[in-house]
Amino acid sequence: MSTLYRARVMDTPDSPFTGAGLRAEEDVALVVEDGTIVTRGPYDAVRDAHPDAEVVDLREGILLPGFVDAHVHFPQVRVIAGLGMPLLDWLTHCALPEEARLADAGYARGVATDFVSGLLNAGTTSALVFGSHFAPAVDEVFTEAARTGLRITAGLVLSDRILEPAGLLTTPERAYQESRALADRWHGTGRARYAVTPRFSLSASDPLLEVSGALLKDVPGSWFTSHVNENGAEVATVAQLFPDAHDYVDTYDRHGLVGRRSVLAHNVHPTDRELAVLADQSATVAHCATSNAALGSGLFPLKRHIEHGVRVALGSDVGAGTGFAMLKEGLQAYFAQQLLGKEGLPLTPAHLLWLSTRAGAEALDLGDEVGDLSPGRAFDAVWVCPPEGSTLDIGLRHAQDADNALARIFAMAGQADLARVWIGGERVRPVDPA
Ligand code: GUN
Ligand code: ZN
Repeated sequence: MSTLYRARVMDTPDSPFTGAGLRAEEDVALVVEDGTIVTRGPYDAVRDAHPDAEVVDLREGILLPGFVDAHVHFPQVRVIAGLGMPLLDWLTHCALPEEARLADAGYARGVATDFVSGLLNAGTTSALVFGSHFAPAVDEVFTEAARTGLRITAGLVLSDRILEPAGLLTTPERAYQESRALADRWHGTGRARYAVTPRFSLSASDPLLEVSGALLKDVPGSWFTSHVNENGAEVATVAQLFPDAHDYVDTYDRHGLVGRRSVLAHNVHPTDRELAVLADQSATVAHCATSNAALGSGLFPLKRHIEHGVRVALGSDVGAGTGFAMLKEGLQAYFAQQLLGKEGLPLTPAHLLWLSTRAGAEALDLGDEVGDLSPGRAFDAVWVCPPEGSTLDIGLRHAQDADNALARIFAMAGQADLARVWIGGERVRPVDPA
């Protein structure tokens, strides 16, 4: 059975950072079979070639690829918007007390439901997820993602020092065993993949980072994710804790943790040496724009990343980030570059769409599967169709051109404007009754 989606489609198959523009086409037909786009072209011609396909008419709105969130914390969904604190205070007073509650698997199950639901409601269809310090809680988030179809890469969060309460801490031996068992259960099962996840060097000793390197080798195709260079006090503490390391990136790199399948969140305060290492090893930085603003971490030096050739995607960083909406992250990323003045990189609507879709897909090595709406990709898509009278509805009716319409979507779209979401051809919002 094939379905033909008839729509105005916008996506970014190629990077605006290397000169490509927005691909915006009117009256496109996307033919979807078994969850995959098999044909894309002008409606009339495609319809003639597929007379038996069921037609879903989406011309009232605009179809975008599903969003890809390159950095989001599962245990923090219930503590979003603990405002007014810098990173280390926020961890102590807001995030970690809640994360400790996930020791209770029943509590973790409820959090997993809230978390996955939050992502889907925001139109996020793939995510690199910071898991929990507790293995049963990580099972819960993988289970809920599998139930709903969400594509996640996630893992057990590892720390063996400094964090409180002490129940969050592990040992290198236990970290290896529990991570390995989770990876054996989930890595490559359906859409799930495993990410080795030391929390950050501040809370991870060299032996724990060494074990992380061993896990990355022993679980072929697994990911590495952590935090780097987010906040001045954090960076200074890491420098004290690792007197032999060149810098923060080196604390990971010397354990073989920086490579093509590594995503480091933040990097607001990098040195040129660190940017050169990240570029050389093809690692990705997840820019978490609302989090950086909410915690006062700083303005992300995107221009320096791009000039060095570092890959950059976007992360919501819930719950330091202020919600799941990748559209809001895109807008905030634009604001940050504006505020940087001459040091900033002016971003177009196409850049924002790239950063919130295709860049994340490439960071997760899912570029062949998702990230744009080309033939061969899974049908992971968001239909922006504002209800009558919403500010976005007025905005779209008065947009001058496609780029301007997309700018209005990033500036104004809220959850109510995301009328439908699909993953692999299955409608996940609103949930398909079939
Ligand atoms: N660094 C270590 N843990 C965290 C976290 O949970 N959120 C953010 N933003 N930074 C971190
Ligand atoms: Zn984070």
